[in-house]
Amino acid sequence: MEQSLTLLGLESSCDDTAAAVVRQSGQGPAEVLSSIVFGQTELHSAFGGVVPEIAARAHAEKLDHCVRDALAAADLRLQDMDAIAVTAGPGLIGGVISGVMCAKGLAAATGLPLVGVNHLAGHALTPRLTDAVPYPYLMLLVSGGHCQYLIVRGPDDFKRLGGTIDDAPGEAFDKTARLLGLPQPGGPSVQKEAESGDPRRFRFPRPLLDRPDCNLSFSGLKTALMRMRDQVMAEKGGLTRQDRADLCAGFQAAVADVLAEKTLRAIRRYLEEVPTTRTVAVAGGVAANTAIRAVLETVCTEVDAQFVAPPLALCTDNAAMIAYAGLERFRSGEQDGMELSARPRWPLDQSSPAMLGSGKKGAKA
Ligand code: KG4
Ligand code: ZN
Repeated sequence: MEQSLTLLGLESSCDDTAAAVVRQSGQGPAEVLSSIVFGQTELHSAFGGVVPEIAARAHAEKLDHCVRDALAAADLRLQDMDAIAVTAGPGLIGGVISGVMCAKGLAAATGLPLVGVNHLAGHALTPRLTDAVPYPYLMLLVSGGHCQYLIVRGPDDFKRLGGTIDDAPGEAFDKTARLLGLPQPGGPSVQKEAESGDPRRFRFPRPLLDRPDCNLSFSGLKTALMRMRDQVMAEKGGLTRQDRADLCAGFQAAVADVLAEKTLRAIRRYLEEVPTTRTVAVAGGVAANTAIRAVLETVCTEVDAQFVAPPLALCTDNAAMIAYAGLERFRSGEQDGMELSARPRWPLDQSSPAMLGSGKKGAKA
């Protein structure tokens, strides 16, 4: 019987300050005892994107409140923890440093072990936290800063099969919303508009489907949308509610189609390497999109694979996934010392070549 472990997790790599307590008793399922997230959307809304300096300052101010609230919600004290896990990258460096410094302070004050966690590993291991999915499995990570297919074999063992060569899908949703004057974050606004739109009225491209690999591209969709919007505006002098809805529906359908087809290819590549377990999991904020979830589910059914989509609150940035990824590392005997440093870039699959442009803007991970 394996030991019961309780970890405090901290997350501050982008624009959410988060703390959570996660426990795993022996080999049983992990339990999220608390998960507190302070978003910063309002702080950045006037600037049309995340401002790194503002984000770092807000993290530094909020982290200790977050820790206090997470411990109170779990009805536990710091002394009840077995270790402290913290996002050590990738992300906006000021925010990551705020989290790492806070975690080091707590570790120094309590003598608790410190465990640095890769934010992307946090997302990639979420299906184990929520559904106890066994290794290996195929992960599609789709967020505001990332889009990649990974074979997940262990807490530190990832193989990238492909990913975006430019924008991440969440970034494309956010830019689309900005171009149409819809509120941020763009994903939920575009999804809502798309519900009353006709996806066939505007013909959006399906980028990179002519290439057999698992790479994707989303920046052309945003350019296509801008062109179509400008054309309608030039013809009619403005956009009607229906024009906006049709543009959103066309854009969303293009993203969903491309993700469906590339996921099918990624599953085939995955099955060549891992014919034994047919599990496909999704994580990241874009996994909240109901149309995208639906097409991914259909693709999985077609190839007889199990589809795992964690609940929304654990798909978007949170600290429970960091506490859990830290718990797995800690259980396998790993931890970090006070020399743990913040890493703005930290690919999960170190052997894979860097993707062109992917994550260059680096605000979201
Ligand atoms: O994972 P996340 O919280 O942050 C990181 O990027 O790490 O994801 C946020 C992204 C944003 O770009 C947001 O627009 C997108 O996820 N998103 C969605 C939806 N909900 C959030 N995109 C499409 N449809 C949604 N329903
Ligand atoms: Zn993230």
